[in-house]
Amino acid sequence: MKETNMSDPYADRGNHDLSIGNPKGQGTAQPVRQGGKSHPAPGGPFLIGESMTGGYGNGPDILHDCTIAVEKGEIAVIVGPNGAGKSTAMKAVFGMLDVRQGHVRLDGEDITALSPQDRVAKGMGFVPQTSNIFTSMSVEENLEMGAFIRRDDFRDTMAQVYDLFPILKEKRLQAAGELSGGQRQQVAVGRALMTQPKVLMLDEPTAGVSPIVMDELFDRIIEVARTGIPILMVEQNARQALEIADKGYVLVQGANAFTGTGKELLSDPEVRKSFLGG
Ligand SMILES: Nc1ncnc2c1ncn2[C@@H]1O[C@H](COP(=O)(O)OP(=O)(O)OP(=O)(O)O)[C@@H](O)[C@H]1O
Ligand SMILES: [Mg+2]
Repeated sequence: MKETNMSDPYADRGNHDLSIGNPKGQGTAQPVRQGGKSHPAPGGPFLIGESMTGGYGNGPDILHDCTIAVEKGEIAVIVGPNGAGKSTAMKAVFGMLDVRQGHVRLDGEDITALSPQDRVAKGMGFVPQTSNIFTSMSVEENLEMGAFIRRDDFRDTMAQVYDLFPILKEKRLQAAGELSGGQRQQVAVGRALMTQPKVLMLDEPTAGVSPIVMDELFDRIIEVARTGIPILMVEQNARQALEIADKGYVLVQGANAFTGTGKELLSDPEVRKSFLGG
């Protein structure tokens, strides 16, 4: 199944391709000291939520000096226990929560003060963990909703989404709520792609699907990455996700616990014992 093809950065997953986005690599997996920082790669990542501290409304801080980022041409994965703040970190990067300290930068520009809508206009696509489709609308209407900020002709993009997810074309007139879990996630990802994002953020795209469907979704996600869209995603299937990840972040209690390449995290004894079931 696996083959090595030097011209295709995604042909051989498992992080033999570290050189693609960052020739210097990302260093080695290191526990992040209490109160310490996770250091992004030199040159600056394409999208970064850096040293974010914040919570919901006037509530307590959920994130503590938390950093997550993705480089051009890469897939970054965020893992960690339930309630660790993974979704909160994603929402912070997307502007759905006040960041009391820290910054969010997209392609070098500080976007910390922008609304989510303005971030979409800047090229961010976000698929939240829950309520990520309009269940009573058809598949096609969901995709049209995704294109809401566009004033140009988006039919080509829709055709690309249908190429990526052929089942959606077949079911385009069906209510999205009638689809299977895996198909609904495809609608959600397809909807986000309709804005032609420069970076895609996915919060648990494989939640509640069978292992086979999970593998299929990961393949599609790699395919999206291969088109040049960096992907920052939260995953509960930590082991499988780290296998396709260039960079991984383990979050615990709103803070960075471990950061490294997917491969480094997979082979780190501490990470294995505590987060990957040994
Ligand atoms: N809308 C909200 N308002 C207030 N607190 C919230 C809100 N959403 C989440 N929290 C709290 O923030 C903390 C982190 O939750 P979050 O959903 O970010 O974790 P998670 O790592 O995504 O968990 P899971 O793996 O279950 O998705 C939890 O203590 C949670 O109760
Ligand atoms: Mg979550």
